[in-house]
Amino acid sequence: MSVNTQDTEIVHRAFRRESRLLVELVAAVAPGDTARAEVIAGHFRLYRLGLRHHQEVQDELLLPPLLSRVDLDADIVLRAEAQHRRLAATLTRLDAAVPAWEATAGADERDTLVAALADHRAVLLEHLGDEEAALLPLAARHLTEREWALLRGRLVTGIPAPTLLTLCGAVLEEADPAERAAVLGGLPAPVRVAWHVLGRPRYARHIRRVRG
Ligand SMILES: [Fe+2]
Repeated sequence: MSVNTQDTEIVHRAFRRESRLLVELVAAVAPGDTARAEVIAGHFRLYRLGLRHHQEVQDELLLPPLLSRVDLDADIVLRAEAQHRRLAATLTRLDAAVPAWEATAGADERDTLVAALADHRAVLLEHLGDEEAALLPLAARHLTEREWALLRGRLVTGIPAPTLLTLCGAVLEEADPAERAAVLGGLPAPVRVAWHVLGRPRYARHIRRVRG
């Protein structure tokens, strides 16, 4: 028996897409257009919250139990820990670059931010690819169904409901019907209902504003 970690790959798709779009969206903002910068900076903060939460849950509920159970494969877990630290460092850099750009939408600040976003994305892509190729198969073999369910549960707690619904939309955006059913089936019933009633239109509005 091994746990099904496919939902993580569906979530990763959203991080890959949004990290690419952030580079493109910021690069396209005209100097001085602070209204547009504010919208995109808000979207970055949402992306950042989703990514950090995802990693913190993994740091607590995925990497430590794996490290205690694997022997020859410990390097895979240690590599993931190191990649999480590098990713956190790229976010720290963005935490300075985003408000600096948002304040004036200056061309120099924009170019600095685009470079920082591109660096962040490079670290992110390396990590997600590695996680899918090496870490998740390890998790599938060594974690119990109960532990995986706990991890999934934690991914949807500790985030304010409106934010959670928008993040849900990002995850479901490119999901096929079977993936959509798997993701929604893993959510608590009240969140699932809220997604259908409130989340879908809310996400559509958010994306229209962000992507223009
Ligand atoms: Fe990770």
